Formats: sequence, structure tokens, C-alpha cells
Amino acid sequence: MRLGFELWLYRDVTSRSVFPNRRYAAGAVCKSTARLDGKTVLITGANTGIGKETALDLAVRGARVIMACRNVEKGEEAAASIRAAYSEAKVEVRELDLADTCSIRAFAQKFLREVNHLHILINNAGVMMCPYTKTVDGFEMHIGVNHLGHFLLTYLLIGLLRRSAPARVLVVSSLAHNFGWIRFHDLHSQGSYNSGLAYCQSKLANVLFARELARRLKGTNVTVNSVHPGTVNSDLTRHSTLMMILFTVFSVFLKTPLEGAQTSVYCAVAEELHSVSGKHFSDCAPAFVAPQGRSEETASKLWDVSCELLGIDWD
Ligand SMILES: NC(=O)c1ccc[n+]([C@@H]2O[C@H](COP(=O)([O-])OP(=O)(O)OC[C@H]3O[C@@H](n4cnc5c(N)ncnc54)[C@H](OP(=O)(O)O)[C@@H]3O)[C@@H](O)[C@H]2O)c1
Repeated sequence: MRLGFELWLYRDVTSRSVFPNRRYAAGAVCKSTARLDGKTVLITGANTGIGKETALDLAVRGARVIMACRNVEKGEEAAASIRAAYSEAKVEVRELDLADTCSIRAFAQKFLREVNHLHILINNAGVMMCPYTKTVDGFEMHIGVNHLGHFLLTYLLIGLLRRSAPARVLVVSSLAHNFGWIRFHDLHSQGSYNSGLAYCQSKLANVLFARELARRLKGTNVTVNSVHPGTVNSDLTRHSTLMMILFTVFSVFLKTPLEGAQTSVYCAVAEELHSVSGKHFSDCAPAFVAPQGRSEETASKLWDVSCELLGIDWD
């Protein structure tokens, strides 16, 4: 009951709003009161938006939460605001730039040296509709950060997750996966570039990665699921003026970051999901996956291509 009270203290009341449109937009709320004392959680992109709200919720449940952020200063500000909201929060900030495989490797090396367990990994960070740019390693930014960066991070931490089992991996994808397809002939959009389609491709890659990893981890007590958080009024639109205007105009119909974090929190803590793996969730319930997100052949091919691009051997 202590948890229920604490959640009540910091929770925005919009999900209980008297306005029907806000109640509808808010979507489902994670009702689990599971505690995470003694558990370690790693969340990428936790300095703002959905990641920050997820970090706060899991910290309130007693977890040690490691916030992996590319900008440590912004990360520390977010950690300070989490501590201000909940003084007992055990939150730490570590530097991780998913657009640079050297940064990912350095992060993982230090992490494995200093952290003994990892029970929940939340691959949350993401970019959307940015102008054509490449990561340090020459990958197109969406596929590089949203998929390949997280693929490498998970690969480097998978041994620790397995040793910490029961453990959970969450991949924050999107409804946008429905409009994506994996362009194996031009994964980095060098032939033609459309920022929206590049985002959709990367979010489809998230769904395929979660399903393939779940299949490969069968029987290990490490589960993997993907999540659509809903349409959330966050900083994600920062690269698109049109999207920023649309999100501002229609903000009352969108989820707040707190509301958007509910499905991630649900998949991280819900007792009934302890053995559920390879599924996609939205509004704290199983959700539809587009046919291209269910193709075992595409998932397996993407796995091989990702390994090749990253120079890793992950069987
Ligand atoms: N908002 C939505 O409507 C929506 C809908 C469906 C899915 N999603 C997914 O939800 C996830 C979280 O999005 P959000 O809405 O919370 O957006 P957000 O507020 O923009 O947060 C994105 C986070 O990712 C981080 N990030 C970006 N590039 C990075 C890199 N190279 N290395 C490390 N971290 C990096 C950002 O760090 P900086 O602050 O330093 O840039 C930020 O912390 C994303 O995966 C997104 O695709 C969002």
C-alpha cells in the first residue's frame, strides 16, 4: 500500500481527469504495485520524456535505476528532479551515446566492471525524423541509434542479464512499425531518404529484434517484449517543425510522458508477464503486430545483417 500512496503523490491527475477526451487520450495505467527492491534497471534516453517518467516510477518501486544518457549534464538534471520528487530514489547517470559504437563499448565495459546484476534493460532512447545524418560509424541515424545502437548494447550486456535471471528486456518501438519495411538493399537510405520512412524502418527493426531475441533466449528466464507507448507529447518531434506544430495543436489528445511510460512500466514489473516473451504491448495489453513485424525470415536476416554491420558474432 506504501507504493500506491507514493505513486499517488507524484502522479499527474490527468488520467483521472473529468474531461472525457483527456481520460481517453491518457490510455491505460499500470495497476501493478510490484516492488523492485534489490533490482537493477538500466534505461537508455532517461533524461527526458517517456524514459525519465519510467525511471521515476521504477525508482519509486525501490529499484536502483541507471539512466544512460548521451548528455550527462541533462541526465544529472533529470536525476535531480527525480530525487526531488522522491527523496529515496536510487538513480545514477552514466554516459552513453548510441550513435557511437565506441561509446557503447566503453559504457558496457565500465558497466560490467561496476554493476553485478541487471534485471531490467529498457531500450528506450530514440530519434525521429531527423535530417539525413550518419552515426560516428557511418550508419543512417534512425537505424543506427534506434536499432543498431541498442542491438550492440544488448549484445554486450546479455551475459549479465542471463546471470541475473529472471530478467526482462523491453524494446520501445512504435505503432509506426506498421508503416515500415526493412530495405535490405539500402538500409542506410543512401539511394533515397525520407525521414518518416527511416523512422518507421527503425521501429519495425525494434519489433523484429525483440521477437528474434525472445526466440533465441527461450528457456533462459530472460524475456523480451516490445512496446508502443502511445502518441506522447515529448521532445521526440524536435527535428520536425510540422510535427511540433501538430503535437502542440493537438496536445490535449496526446498522452503526457507519464501516461506514455505506463506500458513500459507494466512490461517491466507486471507479475503476470514473468514468462511472457516475444510479444508487443500497447496500453498495458498485448497489441497487434504488422505482418512484416511477424516475419521470422526478415527477423533472422536483420539479425545477421546487424551482426555483420557491428562486426559481432552473436549466435
Ligand atoms: N513520443 C511518441 O509519441 C512516441 C510514440 C511511439 C514511440 N515512441 C518511442 O519512445 C521512445 C522515447 O521517446 P520520447 O517520446 O520520450 O522522446 P524524447 O523525449 O525525445 O526522448 C528520447 C531520448 O532518447 C535520447 N537519445 C537520442 N539520441 C540518443 C543517442 N544517440 N544516444 C543516447 N540517447 C539518445 C534523447 O537524449 P537527448 O535528450 O540528449 O537528445 C532522449 O533522452 C523512443 O524510442 C520513441 O521512438 C515515442
